[in-house]
Amino acid sequence: MSDDYLAINRANWDSRAPIHVEGYGIERYLSDPGALSDVVRFDAPRLGDLTDLDVVHLQCHIGTDTLSLHRLGAHVTGVDLSGVSLAHARQLAADAGAHITYVEADVYSAPEALGRTYDLVYTGIGAICWLPSITRWAQTVAALLKPGGRLFIRDMHPVLNTLMAMVVGEDHPDRAQQPWITAPGGTTFALELPYYEQPEPLEWNDAVTYLGDGPVSSPRSVEWNHGLGEIVSAVLDAGLELTGLVEHDSVPWVPFAGLMTLDPGAGEYRLTERPERLAASFTLTATKR
Ligand SMILES: C[S@@+](CC[C@H](N)C(=O)[O-])C[C@H]1O[C@@H](n2cnc3c(N)ncnc32)[C@H](O)[C@@H]1O
Repeated sequence: MSDDYLAINRANWDSRAPIHVEGYGIERYLSDPGALSDVVRFDAPRLGDLTDLDVVHLQCHIGTDTLSLHRLGAHVTGVDLSGVSLAHARQLAADAGAHITYVEADVYSAPEALGRTYDLVYTGIGAICWLPSITRWAQTVAALLKPGGRLFIRDMHPVLNTLMAMVVGEDHPDRAQQPWITAPGGTTFALELPYYEQPEPLEWNDAVTYLGDGPVSSPRSVEWNHGLGEIVSAVLDAGLELTGLVEHDSVPWVPFAGLMTLDPGAGEYRLTERPERLAASFTLTATKR
């Protein structure tokens, strides 16, 4: 696909940003100077000490996670394709009295746009699905890191991205042995969307955002899935050393309405029924030698 995908997705994210400013609970970051986003709070045990590290946050959106990284002691630069998202991120940083640099660029152009390297690249939670090539993404990450610098990504698990909720039509013969297999009339999950990276994207037209709010004035978006093996291979081929790969049964939003339950302690949602079925997100860490 040509670079049209950037224009399509920029318009989509520009129109989602004001809706997310309403839905992300921005006020709590201003009323509590120590408030962290649920995403960064979840990641903190695996992130390590960020004090005085130079961090670039790729696909930072409206800057709630970026502000949280700043509050953990990092010097943070946020990068995003969407100028409207960045305008909101800059306003939030100003209102919170936080010094954060924001740069408008697509991920693949970030090394050129930023012109420097970092101790940590942080990204995720709906990031790499917007990029056509995971190989190029990993090469971009490597170019942004100092020697010894780290990659931290927690994103949607590629298995989650393949699934659609479906109503079961017929009884499965194995239900006699495994009685928890969903009975006819119940809802289960089917592998309906690509797992492996495809040359052509999936195109969506969604009038509401993942918060369930809308209307999104530019509803068209295009996205790609990348298999877990493809992600790991891309990171290794880019010359990074893998230091961790953890699969989680939870995500910080609701991918299947009515089928997920909030764990208030974690600030994350997991399947209400048998959450052990689903790898919902993953954390991958790697170091540049
Ligand atoms: C789901 S959001 C990231 C979520 C973030 N973790 C949050 O909730 O605040 C995806 C972001 O990726 C940005 N984006 C999409 N494609 C991009 C690209 N090619 N380069 C840079 N940013 C991109 C969008 O503008 C959007 O702000």
